Amino acid sequence: MRRQNVKICKGPGCRAWSSDRIARELGEIREALGLEGIQVCRVPCMKVCGGGASVRVNSNRKIVKLGEVDDVMNALGIQGATVACMA
Ligand code: FES
Repeated sequence: MRRQNVKICKGPGCRAWSSDRIARELGEIREALGLEGIQVCRVPCMKVCGGGASVRVNSNRKIVKLGEVDDVMNALGIQGATVACMA
């Protein structure tokens, strides 16, 4: 698996949109599925608060607003990982 970086905002606005839970669940999925190529980093406020947790995948300039860990997995191009993890 190629290396991918996921930066998840830990600012107060994104924490209100469950960024802590999203980061935790992504870390759990990463470990359960052996996806060592995925690196999860918590970063300070990205200055685009509101509308979801701010996430930057790899070096994309675009910051996406996400509400669930499934959204992150989809952004990484990993489909059905959550289902596989819970099986
Ligand atoms: S708190 Fe996350 S972008 Fe500001």
